[in-house]
Amino acid sequence: MNQSSNYIPPELLNEIRAQNDIAEVISECGIPLRAAGKEYSALCPFHEEQKPSFSVSPEKQIFYCFGCNSGGNVISFLQKHEGMSFIEAVERLAQRVGISLPSQDGKSREKSRKRLELQDVNRFAMAHFHRQLLTPQIGGNALAYLKKRGVKDETISHFQLGYATRGRQDLFKTAAKADFSVQQLIDAGLIKKDEHGSIDRFRGRIIFPILDERGAPVGFGGRALSEETLPKYLNSPTTSLYDKSKTLYNLYHARQAIQKAGKAILVEGYFDAIMPYQAGVKHVVASLGTAFSESHASLLNRFAEETVIVYDGDAAGFQATLRGLHILLKKGLRVRIALLPRGEDPDQFIQSQGLDAFNQLCNSAMNLIEFQIQRASQQDAIRRIDVKTHTVKEIALTLSHITSNVELNEYISYAAQELNIERDVLLKELQRLGVKANRSSQVRPPSQYAGKASLKPRESIEWQLIESLIQSPNLIPCVKEKFRYQDFTHPDFAIIAQMLWDGCKSDDPLDVQGLIDTCENEKIKGTISNALLQRKISPNLKVRVEGCLKKLREFLLRDVERERRSTALTQGDNNIETLAELVELSNRRRHFVH
Ligand code: UTP
Ligand code: MN
Repeated sequence: MNQSSNYIPPELLNEIRAQNDIAEVISECGIPLRAAGKEYSALCPFHEEQKPSFSVSPEKQIFYCFGCNSGGNVISFLQKHEGMSFIEAVERLAQRVGISLPSQDGKSREKSRKRLELQDVNRFAMAHFHRQLLTPQIGGNALAYLKKRGVKDETISHFQLGYATRGRQDLFKTAAKADFSVQQLIDAGLIKKDEHGSIDRFRGRIIFPILDERGAPVGFGGRALSEETLPKYLNSPTTSLYDKSKTLYNLYHARQAIQKAGKAILVEGYFDAIMPYQAGVKHVVASLGTAFSESHASLLNRFAEETVIVYDGDAAGFQATLRGLHILLKKGLRVRIALLPRGEDPDQFIQSQGLDAFNQLCNSAMNLIEFQIQRASQQDAIRRIDVKTHTVKEIALTLSHITSNVELNEYISYAAQELNIERDVLLKELQRLGVKANRSSQVRPPSQYAGKASLKPRESIEWQLIESLIQSPNLIPCVKEKFRYQDFTHPDFAIIAQMLWDGCKSDDPLDVQGLIDTCENEKIKGTISNALLQRKISPNLKVRVEGCLKKLREFLLRDVERERRSTALTQGDNNIETLAELVELSNRRRHFVH
């Protein structure tokens, strides 16, 4: 959910949307629209194309591209096209039609006042550190260090790099003179208390300001000038502005390039982002030594579907990241891995091998499964039976998260070949994890959803149901009673169904435009817009919905039968699991066999 919708009342959002005609706004962004029946069409601004597949409906106030599945309302359009946050887009639109936004309620007003205050402190410190760096008598050595590492003047100014002097209270005193309080500086993580009083956190270090995705300074990293000083990097503590697991260095500068490229390059360190950026790789962000987290992934997913991780395969950070990747796979996010030569990082690589080699490395990145299989098969120890058994288990676990049957089968063959084992070994292991490789009702991960043509029969019916409900939200309450959103097999449709079910809690009709506003997943937004733009296929949607429900129940019953049979087969294998399965089964049956 957008935190912003907390304080902008839905009625006001409606008003802002109503007064900003989507076709006008899109034209004003420099996209020529051509009338095509009830709609407008244009060349899609979000992907390369020769023939227009970008469609704007003034009636529904929705845009949708049949080529790249991007879609949404007027707010989403600005977010995507201008790289704005939700609130920035709303502010822009409100301003465009002369609506003033309300002030927030007491508690959140206090909270955002605090945030702004801390941002001010940070902005002050950022400017101070930057000035120090550029004052020769003060920052001469630090500047020389940066120059020695190949950082150019324009890069220093672009990233507002700085220098924190060695004195105990240099920042503290300067900030105090500018009327910042001790408490503010402590809250911003810039000073701390020790037995002798207040002391600057960053002393004798090169300073890297960390901006959030909107460009506000939220924290700092400081690098020691000599290799003897420990720690090498000192970072801001967690503050109300800064949470390292939710922050990506350089995202603010990279976000538009990420959208354009359709992917983000993820590296580990400050220099690993700065040096490729300087060389022309603008879509690079850094996770700053922490494991790539689910929050990082959802942050990136707002701008692109794919992340290419460029790590030194032996680095500790990479091992931690690898452990978290299953979650990403399960969420349908695309992750690929590019391995650097042993002991090298992107900073060193781009300086020694150049831009082309770096781009090539990124382009040849492997997907997670290929990567895991390759890595395992290259281990010397793989000949040992215990190592092999363990590897098979790990790979089966990864495979169990794949939702496309075709893909799954391909990977089973690939893994069997690389590891020199029988397919059956993997199949058995998968079965133990509850995955039947030949199951018929398998689905693609959401990222590969590409419209109706690619859907399996069961998914097609799910799509018809979703589409009808989005066009006629008044049918949702009744359907919700009879069908669980968890029972949609297509992950995108399950997500949308959950949104629809949740959105229909009260008696008010579901507000689809509002749904689009609160949805942060671009693909889901696109799919909802797609559903809205479909012409009414059936004159009686209620009958159509009933038909879909009937067919979907049949599929479910078949599932139950199959599961019951396989449960009976494996009984005694693992009692707790079996028990859990039986409970789940009876829950499901209770739900739809009336
Ligand atoms: P590295 O140790 O790989 O350093 O840490 P680096 O980025 O290559 O730094 P240089 O090139 O030697 O200057 C990667 C990242 O991990 C975080 C920093 O964000 C760093 O950029 N880190 C590392 C810390 O936060 N603290 C440390 O002590 C070390
Ligand atoms: Mn480095």
